[in-house]
Amino acid sequence: MNDEILVTCRINGEDVTLQGDPADSTVSALRARGLYGVRETCGLGVCGTCTVLLDGEPVSSCILPLYAMDGRTIRTVEGAASGETLSGLQEQFIESQAFQCSFCTPGFLASAQALLDQTEGELTRQQVEDGLQGHLCRCGSYEAINEAIRICSRNRESTPGGAGCAAS
Ligand code: FES
Ligand code: FES
Repeated sequence: MNDEILVTCRINGEDVTLQGDPADSTVSALRARGLYGVRETCGLGVCGTCTVLLDGEPVSSCILPLYAMDGRTIRTVEGAASGETLSGLQEQFIESQAFQCSFCTPGFLASAQALLDQTEGELTRQQVEDGLQGHLCRCGSYEAINEAIRICSRNRESTPGGAGCAAS
């Protein structure tokens, strides 16, 4: 059995120290802190449900070991909102009814926000599909999810400063 380690990182804007087995999964560590928006399904890195942003890049937190969080910045779906104010992307998911059971939604939101943050202009359907590769939605809400993200990308074109659907 491995010795426990201390890991310091920044989660949703808060500097924290975590303790645990170095091989513990990040999804477990985050949920242990009450961040239940991070959800685990396959535990194998193939469904996208557990996706969070690690230094701005979407990663599967079920296969990210605790030791790899050291010195990193993590953002979960809880960190996308500002208090009671949802991000523009979250609002658009509601507007477009881009979910049914919503179990997969936090993971989709993470990758969608990264896609919007890392691109410019109005995205095509194919660009969104490419950006969401590896995400599964068992309710089959793919069309509405794709539409919500494309609307966000279109809005940033027409918003002064390009702020459409920015993270809050
Ligand atoms: S639960 Fe992590 S990728 Fe499926
Ligand atoms: S909305 Fe139910 S799994 Fe995607």
